[in-house]
Amino acid sequence: MCGIIGYVGSRETLPILLKGLSCLEYRGYDSWGIATIHKGAIAIEKDIGKVKDIDVPAISSLLKGTIGLAHSRWATHGKVTRENAHPQTDADAGIAVIHNGIIENYAELKNELENKGYLFSSETDTEVVAHLIRDSYKGNLREAVLCAIRQIEGSYALGVICRDVPDRIIAARNESPLVVGIGNGEQFIASDVPAVLEHTNRVVYLENGEVAELSAERVSFFSLDGKEIEKEVHTITWNAEQAQKQGYPHFMLKEIAEQQIAIEQTINERMTDDEVLLPELLMSEAEVKDIKRVIIVACGTSWHAGLIGEFMLEEIAKIPVEVEYASEFRYRDPIVEKGTIILGISQSGETADTLAALREAKRKGARVISIVNVQGSSITRESDAVLYTHAGPEIGVASTKAFSSQLAVLYLLTVFLGKIRGVLPLQQVKNRIRDLRLLPLQIQSMVDDTTEVERLAARFSATQHALYLGRGINYPIALEGALKLKEVSYAHAEGYPAAEMKHGPIALIDKKMPVVFIATKDDRTYKKIISNIEEVRARGGIVIGIVSKGDNEIVAKTDYHLIVPKSSYILTPLLAVVPLQLLAYFIAVKRGFDPDKPKNLAKSVTVE
Ligand code: M6R
Repeated sequence: MCGIIGYVGSRETLPILLKGLSCLEYRGYDSWGIATIHKGAIAIEKDIGKVKDIDVPAISSLLKGTIGLAHSRWATHGKVTRENAHPQTDADAGIAVIHNGIIENYAELKNELENKGYLFSSETDTEVVAHLIRDSYKGNLREAVLCAIRQIEGSYALGVICRDVPDRIIAARNESPLVVGIGNGEQFIASDVPAVLEHTNRVVYLENGEVAELSAERVSFFSLDGKEIEKEVHTITWNAEQAQKQGYPHFMLKEIAEQQIAIEQTINERMTDDEVLLPELLMSEAEVKDIKRVIIVACGTSWHAGLIGEFMLEEIAKIPVEVEYASEFRYRDPIVEKGTIILGISQSGETADTLAALREAKRKGARVISIVNVQGSSITRESDAVLYTHAGPEIGVASTKAFSSQLAVLYLLTVFLGKIRGVLPLQQVKNRIRDLRLLPLQIQSMVDDTTEVERLAARFSATQHALYLGRGINYPIALEGALKLKEVSYAHAEGYPAAEMKHGPIALIDKKMPVVFIATKDDRTYKKIISNIEEVRARGGIVIGIVSKGDNEIVAKTDYHLIVPKSSYILTPLLAVVPLQLLAYFIAVKRGFDPDKPKNLAKSVTVE
């Protein structure tokens, strides 16, 4: 949730930290803070507000030095105030700490520390860590950090510097992501890879309970009991440029526009004309045939992808599927029998609830497969097999290209399993692959011309409420369209199965209520959707149709419409979602909001 960046080397640290912070700000942006060590003292500047509003000339003369830490905050404990921004320090500002996570036993620890005479100046759980380290510090900073974290319960990614050891950063991790960037004569810590990519593509992922000690020349790694350990260095294939806006006004628009390439990258290497190849599934034919049930666990937009995956897997591969909110799954006592696959879906691979749900399933003996975008993230490291989406870095808080790439992987998985299980004849495999190949260009055609969607956004930019209705495989798209509008434009929107409208939401319909129907032409629910549109028209509601190209019958029944290309029923969601992403984006911009950093949200939700 919060963003962490640290640097030790021979260059001035401030520009590196500021750049890193702006890459990480999507993780949290209610306040920021920076600490450097210079001439035997720790200097700290921090404030509420966004990184882009930092008065750089004003802080430049105050934050000199070649070692430092920086943080962008998403508040958990303590209000959004300057005092609660990180770094937090011990009483004489000899130790500075930045933290992402939640210290669950902070109240007890604070009590104990106060009884020992330590004075607190913030409401944060993080300040406890600074005092704990001070309390254990006997000249060895790493030992003091180890001693402190052995007392902590909860989640943390920590960066620590100390005035007395001006050439060292100590980093530690438990349940919150932290990577170490290995440079040449310089080293980095960061919550996420894009923050260090400009400087190095060699990273080490810290695991739970591990500690890193960084100096300009080397990084050493330690387990919680203080023993030095070897860690694998990973080479990242994304480059820094991919994590920049590249001329787009916002990441969200850039990422919507990148869906063609994201899907191509995700599917191209995984299929021939008559076969889907998923060696990374690591399952034998016999094991595939033995699958009895799939439980999909995910949150937010990834959960919506899961709902569509349910349609795909049940209809084509004939496997029973349940889709669960990860946060609910983990706190019941789910039945996980032999032959159950748990499929986790996550862009970041760090969502705390999804990670915990997968662990719970694993504990119960399930095989855990995940669909993840971020290489090396926590979920990937705890899964039995990973099917990566190759969408590239997704920076905008609203998930767009990751969603369509997740759907593409779910589709590939479905065809793959369907074929092995003998329920999908070769000709159908070929047809399904052919349909998928057409999709990236079809998406691009919608992104190339946004005139209509911009016009619609201008017309509805002041709207405070909207209903999104869909049926069948497009019902999750109604949910996703509504979520996109809510999160970036702050308008209230509800997604509903269209037929359920008459069981309640119909009471909301009047001549001011826009109702977005996902009404693409198919053989199953099309006629029913037309009836639902009539019900809204009869009550004076404003009908906005997401319609198939060439479908004039439905156009005549709508007040406004946006056209999507024709595809097979099962792939329609990948097309129908695009105008809804664009609509949400343009409405947010018209309303004057920054769609990349919606208020109260964070890109990776690494706390429960
Ligand atoms: O990284 P994940 O896919 O696990 O994230 C799950 C949700 O937090 C995420 O999809 C969230 O709902 C997005 N902001 C939606 O646009």
